Amino acid sequence: MAQAEENVWNARMVEASSEAAGAPSRDTAGGSRSIAFDRVSIIFGGTLLVVDDVSLHVAAGEFVSIVGPSGCGKTTLLNLAAGLLPSDVAKGGVTVGGKPPVRGNRDIAYMLARDALSPWRTALGNAELGTEIRGLPARERRDRARRLLETVGLKGFEDAYPKALSQGMRQRVALARTFGLDSPILLMDEPFGALDAQTKMQLEDVLLDLWQRYRRTVVFITHDLSEAVSMSDRVVVMTRRPGRVIADMAIPLGRPRSVRALQKQPAYHRLYAEVWAKLEEGLNA
Ligand SMILES: Nc1ncnc2c1ncn2[C@@H]1O[C@H](COP(=O)(O)OP(=O)(O)OP(=O)(O)O)[C@@H](O)[C@H]1O
Ligand SMILES: [Mg+2]
Repeated sequence: MAQAEENVWNARMVEASSEAAGAPSRDTAGGSRSIAFDRVSIIFGGTLLVVDDVSLHVAAGEFVSIVGPSGCGKTTLLNLAAGLLPSDVAKGGVTVGGKPPVRGNRDIAYMLARDALSPWRTALGNAELGTEIRGLPARERRDRARRLLETVGLKGFEDAYPKALSQGMRQRVALARTFGLDSPILLMDEPFGALDAQTKMQLEDVLLDLWQRYRRTVVFITHDLSEAVSMSDRVVVMTRRPGRVIADMAIPLGRPRSVRALQKQPAYHRLYAEVWAKLEEGLNA
């Protein structure tokens, strides 16, 4: 069972971000790390319209959250960007880093709610799993994993196994693994969805810290509007299925931010109320 889980994670890594696409498409010129959906519709089984005419551009280095009712196609959009959907289900234009989506795009790292750590690997072993799959030399990946574990607050826990870590600590390891990949684009599907409110807030600050340091382009899906507003440069609100974009709202809160400190700012609460109103509109659309 556990081995199966690692295999699933490995498969996803290989599908979404590794050798399958051949040579890495490292963007050494620092060029486009953006994502663009242009008038995208997604239809499953020829009849189930899931996403309806969605246009959404995410600039290089931007942090954009998508919120919307369950089943409106949020995960499906990420899967499309990661090249994980069959080509015949989507209409419209999609580019990732200036190129059409491709399965095995090394420029993408995908992180999910379930940490999917391997129980027989230590925190360090898990943190370097992605770079191991990508074939980085042992010493380099180990050093990188150690640095990242320290950044996510797990110095001293390098040799601990997942069963000896709390849920929040495990998700910290997963963050270290994700950032260890060096992919300029992060697709994050409710990465903190399984955490309690307190731990979630801590992890949000850890993610913002990593993002400030490494400046990845982030598309972040969440059901938590507070999380969306406090983390993002923009919040995109979708309607219920078939999902359409009902609002694309700039979040003009300063950076660097502390999620905890924002809770005391009236501007944050105003933005939260605006996003909430749009979400309600989308539920009834
Ligand atoms: N591969 C697939 N084949 C057929 N239908 C699919 C497939 N993937 C997703 N769907 C359908 O598309 C719709 C949207 O699913 P999706 O997982 O994108 O929703 P979501 O917005 O991420 O919801 P949630 O917030 O619950 O995660 C659902 O009705 C789902 O059943
Ligand atoms: Mg989903």
